[in-house]
Amino acid sequence: MNEPAARGPIVTIDGPAGSGKTTVGRMLAELLGYLCLDSGLFYRAVALAAVRDGADPCSTLDAVRAAASLQLRFESATPGPLGTRVYDGERDITEGLVSLEVEETVSLVSRIPEVRAAMLGPQREVLREGKVVALGRDLGTVVVPDAEVKVYLEATLETRAQRRWKDRLNRGEDTEISDVRDGLIARDQIDSQRDVAPLEAASDAVIISTDDQAPMAIVRAIQELMAERGLLDDA
Ligand code: DC
Repeated sequence: MNEPAARGPIVTIDGPAGSGKTTVGRMLAELLGYLCLDSGLFYRAVALAAVRDGADPCSTLDAVRAAASLQLRFESATPGPLGTRVYDGERDITEGLVSLEVEETVSLVSRIPEVRAAMLGPQREVLREGKVVALGRDLGTVVVPDAEVKVYLEATLETRAQRRWKDRLNRGEDTEISDVRDGLIARDQIDSQRDVAPLEAASDAVIISTDDQAPMAIVRAIQELMAERGLLDDA
């Protein structure tokens, strides 16, 4: 009898908003030829659907309805310079996912246990065959507790606020850094204090500070971890 093929390796990268997960994760996935699962996009899509429907993001019923209405499709989970385009059915929702309204509501919908439960299946579908770099808050703790490599990125509030503020300026948005900082503080608090799957490092995660290191140095450090664990042979 044939054994089912084992899945390929999975690297999880968790950490707070602005810690560098997306930059590092996309670079790493591109170098390895892996898929990149950015789990924040799932929760952002729920928040966008709720906002669009005029729903109350704190209402479990409304948020679950918004989650159930989604027909999420990723143009390509393989990272490239433009990142992944995200569709809900035929509608391209990519830009909406980074809107201010979504930034302000996403932590509220993502703390609802029923919303998290509804997003588990779609995330695990992307992870099924492995060879994935998976980014989020609870990937190493809840979504893929058996991941081969778990990394937790951290950075000071000031560094994270600067990064997110520059992202907004680059998108042509006129934002005060103090507003970005306040938004991060509010999200950190909700993300790390919720009852289900809070933001925290897995006990077996390697914690890396991104304040003073270029993204490529962190990518190399993760590749070294993979090499030490014999995971790079057929990558
Ligand atoms: O990584 P991000 O900024 O795109 O995440 C947006 C929000 O989604 C974040 O504030 C909390 C939530 N999130 C989550 O609860 N669990 C994840 N695995 C990823 C994101």
